[in-house]
Amino acid sequence: MTQSTNNFDILSICRLFALQDKINTFQPYGNGHINDTFLIRCATVNSHAQTQPAYILQRINHHVFKQPLAVMSNIEHVLSHWWGVLQAQGATQLARKCPQLLSTCDGKAYAIDQDGNVWRMFHFIDDTYTVDVIETPQQAYLAAKAFGQFQQHLAALPAQQLAETIPGFHHTRNRFQALIRAIDADSHARVDAVRPEIEFALAHEADTGLLLDLQALGRLPLRVTHNDTKINNVLFDVSTGQPLCVVDLDTVMPGLVAYDFGDMVRTAATTAIEDEVDIRRVDIRMDLFKALAQGYLASAGDSLSDAEKHSLAFGGKLITLEQGIRFLTDYLQGDSYYKTRYAQHNLDRTCNQFALVRAIEANLSEMERLVTR
Ligand SMILES: Nc1ncnc2c1ncn2[C@@H]1O[C@H](COP(=O)(O)OP(=O)(O)O)[C@@H](O)[C@H]1O
Ligand SMILES: [Mg+2]
Repeated sequence: MTQSTNNFDILSICRLFALQDKINTFQPYGNGHINDTFLIRCATVNSHAQTQPAYILQRINHHVFKQPLAVMSNIEHVLSHWWGVLQAQGATQLARKCPQLLSTCDGKAYAIDQDGNVWRMFHFIDDTYTVDVIETPQQAYLAAKAFGQFQQHLAALPAQQLAETIPGFHHTRNRFQALIRAIDADSHARVDAVRPEIEFALAHEADTGLLLDLQALGRLPLRVTHNDTKINNVLFDVSTGQPLCVVDLDTVMPGLVAYDFGDMVRTAATTAIEDEVDIRRVDIRMDLFKALAQGYLASAGDSLSDAEKHSLAFGGKLITLEQGIRFLTDYLQGDSYYKTRYAQHNLDRTCNQFALVRAIEANLSEMERLVTR
């Protein structure tokens, strides 16, 4: 065991937390792309204990999350509500169904190291596995069921109590306006080369305000949403193969359920990843969409209004459109936001996402039937 990993003095950081046991090993852990995650295993001092206590230590990526303390406050809020709901339901194995923070020595949910990094520690949920990419309808069903369950457990928590840690994250109308500004500025003289993509975006302007308007009219409620509904944020139980709980709560914020479900559709129910350059390969996979819809409704269904259920399919179209608009905006602004590997990368991604929007449009009525029946 070395003193440090990635130049962090892990042992010193661990000492800031109220660990009862001596640390045995620590190592980088998981396939997350945002935070630095370490698994800490302790030597148990209690001879009756069967297992060694273990923890997940994470450094919050403050380049992505500009307000790490607001992120932590949201997480504390959500976890305490979630835990209470499970307790009230009389759930067994609570500690495996809801992540739990370990406090620092001074009773806080996070520690700040000498370089200003914000760290938090979770109890490690053992005997679980994660899946990186949804490949089968069964995986789609279970992932959506897990995020639907999360939604259902937090349905009674007023979303207004959470901070909007990434302001306007899915404010699709503002995303559209940002594109218009990028077109008007044409700072990299690229507008002429992307007329068809701009036309496509302009033709969809009305879509960008649709859910926001329904929200403003009170027809769609603001909910606590997860905002990173990827299957690798679901912990599956090794012994049953069933989802235990979702993790990665940094993006938990007020939002619409259509955004969470829509991002699952965008990233999972497609025949090609967003970097596929041959857009003839891009299509919606209706078998996966159907499984996502069934899984989500199986768990969240009872807590959703009819209008929310109806909005789920359109959410897939909207979030895909939004992502295309963001890629196009970044392309026009000279590729300053998304990492690119070649000159046309953002433009190829734009075309890919817009091709998926078209495919969703061609199937939207069937998709709406699947989420409302
Ligand atoms: N409480 C936990 N118990 C077990 N594994 C966890 C726990 N929290 C996170 N993980 C694992 O660590 C990985 C990375 O954590 P995550 O919070 O998703 O970070 P990132 O934001 O970098 O994706 C997860 O995919 C999961 O495998
Ligand atoms: Mg993750």
